[in-house]
Amino acid sequence: SSNWIDAAAEADVPEDDVTQVAAGGVELALYGAGGEVYATASLCTHGNARLCDGFLDGHEIECPLHQGKFDIRDGRATCEPATEAVRTYPVKIENGRVYVDLG
Ligand code: FES
Repeated sequence: SSNWIDAAAEADVPEDDVTQVAAGGVELALYGAGGEVYATASLCTHGNARLCDGFLDGHEIECPLHQGKFDIRDGRATCEPATEAVRTYPVKIENGRVYVDLG
């Protein structure tokens, strides 16, 4: 099922960086990369750290706590100690707003 939520203004998502928003009771990390917007769960799958506090390099987010990495396009873990994928959410842009499908 779809559950599209207005999560942010497109202008509030930084290019080549990450920001955190709460939408529909879910804490999300929103990323601007390559002119696109991506959304993942904010919490790292390895521990108690927020990916919005990490470092975005291309399409890869590095966790600030143990430097595990995830691909923001599909959530897969790309660098240990992160091994479990982080949840990703579909994104669409309409009228300058970022909508995220919380499913
Ligand atoms: Fe993110 Fe450990 S908490 S890599």
